[in-house]
Amino acid sequence: MWRLFADLSLEKRVPLFAGAALVIILGTFGLLDLQAVNDSRNHALQERLVTARAIAGHIDLALGQTLRTLEMTAELLAPRLEEDDLEQAKTILSHAFEQLGIFKHYIFLLDVDGNLLWLISRSDVQEACVGDDIVDRPFIGKVLRSSGPIISEVQCYMSDGTSVVCLAAPIKNASGETIGFVGGAIDVADPTIGGFVNTLQLGETGYAQILDANGVVLASISNGSSEQKNEHSARFAQLIKEKRAVVSECHNCHESGSSSEKREDILAFASVSITDWGVAIRQAEGEVFAEAHDLERKLATLTFLAVLAVVFFAWILMRGITIPLGSMTLAAERIAAGNLSQGVSLPRNDEIGRLARAFETMRLRLGDSLEKVTNWNKQLEERVQQRTVDLEESRREIMRLYEELQRKEQVRRELLRVIISVQEEERRRIARELHDETSQALTALSMGLETAGHSPGASAAEIIQRVDELRPLVVETLDEVHRLIFDLRPSSLDDLGLVAALQSYAESRLESIGIKVHFDVNVEDVEQRLPSQTESALFRIIQEALTNVVKHAEADNVTVALRFSEAGVWAKIEDDGRGFAVDQNLGTNGKRSGFGLLGMSERVALLQGSVSIDSHAGRGTRVEVHIPLDAQERS
Ligand SMILES: Nc1ncnc2c1ncn2[C@@H]1O[C@H](COP(=O)(O)OP(=O)(O)OP(=O)(O)O)[C@@H](O)[C@H]1O
Ligand SMILES: [Mg+2]
Repeated sequence: MWRLFADLSLEKRVPLFAGAALVIILGTFGLLDLQAVNDSRNHALQERLVTARAIAGHIDLALGQTLRTLEMTAELLAPRLEEDDLEQAKTILSHAFEQLGIFKHYIFLLDVDGNLLWLISRSDVQEACVGDDIVDRPFIGKVLRSSGPIISEVQCYMSDGTSVVCLAAPIKNASGETIGFVGGAIDVADPTIGGFVNTLQLGETGYAQILDANGVVLASISNGSSEQKNEHSARFAQLIKEKRAVVSECHNCHESGSSSEKREDILAFASVSITDWGVAIRQAEGEVFAEAHDLERKLATLTFLAVLAVVFFAWILMRGITIPLGSMTLAAERIAAGNLSQGVSLPRNDEIGRLARAFETMRLRLGDSLEKVTNWNKQLEERVQQRTVDLEESRREIMRLYEELQRKEQVRRELLRVIISVQEEERRRIARELHDETSQALTALSMGLETAGHSPGASAAEIIQRVDELRPLVVETLDEVHRLIFDLRPSSLDDLGLVAALQSYAESRLESIGIKVHFDVNVEDVEQRLPSQTESALFRIIQEALTNVVKHAEADNVTVALRFSEAGVWAKIEDDGRGFAVDQNLGTNGKRSGFGLLGMSERVALLQGSVSIDSHAGRGTRVEVHIPLDAQERS
């Protein structure tokens, strides 16, 4: 249920809340209204009851005073009747009649048996009720039986149709015996009794009635209509008997003067204390409650107007909230969809306006942040691309190095194979030279010496001559042996050092064929000896360079430069021969004619040195070698 309510749009929720609040407010006001209307109705009812009581009270007062006046008159009449002074009694009675204005019609004097002694009437006409047989009337009988003043029921009717009520008081002598009665007839509708109700404001439908003990109407004061008896007579008689005062609503009452027409009336009733009479006030309910109904109508109109006002203001409030919220929701959805270009503008200073401004600031900052993030992303992407390119380059370089390594490995293996085959070839050459040259020379020498020693008849001079002839062969053989030994390992390298060994080699191999060799050595460092391995490697490197000069350069001059320092050895072999294309002969790929230069590079690499070969066709060749030295190695 709550979830259903939470899912409702604001447009529905606000009127729902307003409606609920309205129902509560209206309910509260409705209860108060009902209370007020009820109070008004009760007040109207009580007002009628109070009026009825006031009339009853007034009747009590008027009748009481009249009875007391009659008693006083009886006291004045008593001595006259004792003395049978009727004339004087008539005078007193006339005087009392004038005094008691309440007795509108007549005043009478009765003897103790009820015979009429005297009657004074205001009209000249002798009334029907005043006669000789007045004693037979129930009231006279009651008067004769009474010891005090009494009030009759409706007694007789005057010629004009007016009903009258008689009041009488006994006349007692000094010993307390009743000697006569004095009384009079009053008109209940007389203003001095109940007629004053004519002046009451009972509206158009209201009227008051004075009722006797049987509920018979003694006097009715209304808008010209009265009834002697009505449908409530029995109830009124009961109320009079019980001396009660009530007010009630009478539904379906008969309209006065018309028995067929029914209406709803209000009845207020109060009993008269001094006698068994009652006062009833009756008025149409609509008129009694006119004020309450008017209040009801006013409150209903006011409530309706309040509802309209609340609904109108709720609608204005709702529009004031939902419209800007709607536009902000649209803006939020636009932003959520990535559209930050359209701004949010609500020129208001309330909370919604502040919210919109905060929202706009957020949008702008979000836009900035998004731009920054986009730039960062772009930069990152560029860097990633750059890194990818670098990595690709590195990968290609690694591949190239790998292939280079593989080629070098292949070359190394080939070199190893060549070295082995060169060694074999060298051994074969030495064996061939020993066999062809040295062995042949020694054989020839041996045969020559044998011939010289065993020649019979040869003179000593001839033997010496023959031995002398053998001498060049011995020298030549010895040179050959020396050359072989030098090729295997120059002894001068161990004995005299690198420079001397190189000089010896240059003399024997280059200068012997007419190539001039110039040595450029920094003499002060000549004494310095290199490690044996370094020295022999350097010798082989320079030897290969010089051999190449002999084999390929067709040069006239060769310069061998050597520099010794703490850091290492630097050597340069430069010729003025025909030169060659270095790339084709030194690289790891392509065809090559031999392995001398490659072997040179390998040796230098083993010593962590470097070699550079600079050569151009027709401009000679320059080979530079640098071998680094450690302090320990030099010692
Ligand atoms: N000083 C030089 N002057 C002219 N050409 C040279 C010189 N040194 C080398 N070359 C050229 O470089 C080639 C390669 O020399 P390399 O020493 O590697 O092989 P090789 O001398 O032919 O054979 P190997 O040294 O294996 O006996 C030579 O064939 C030659 O053409
Ligand atoms: Mg060579």
